[in-house]
Amino acid sequence: MNNKLKYILGIVPILFSIQGCYYDIENELYPSDGTACDTTAVTYTATIQPILNQSCLSCHSAASAQGNVVLEGYNLLKVYVDDGSFLGAVSHGSGYSPMPKGGNKLSDCKISQIQTWIASGAPNN
Ligand code: HEC
Repeated sequence: MNNKLKYILGIVPILFSIQGCYYDIENELYPSDGTACDTTAVTYTATIQPILNQSCLSCHSAASAQGNVVLEGYNLLKVYVDDGSFLGAVSHGSGYSPMPKGGNKLSDCKISQIQTWIASGAPNN
């Protein structure tokens, strides 16, 4: 075996392993396995409630009604859906107090899901 051939046989596996690492990272950055934003199956129970639990109810539960706003339970939330302030607040619309107060704006995905739910009539599902 001449030296050139040895060199090629040695370098090929190295190139493959570098490529392998590259693809691993890409999969983490751009997941294609259902963790992308899903606005097709949005429901009050499975989508909206978890967002409220995670980002809003610490200030807007019945026990701690900051700004006199309670978002716990469908009927109370619906009041703020109907007057536009729920979407106005989470999308930082002008004329509304931006929510969650003092925290990071909700992700674009969550805001899209809220918009989808409201556009479909904000069902209690
Ligand atoms: C750290 C406490 C806190 C958190 C977290 C919070 N809010 Fe508020 N929210 C307030 C306070 C206080 C007010 C009263 C207005 C003001 O002071 O800005 C308010 C007001 C509101 C209003 C009325 C806004 C208006 O302009 O009429 C809505 C709707 C609202 N919040 C929705 C939410 C939603 C939805 C979330 C979660 C995404 C959330 N809030 C998270 C404290 C909070």
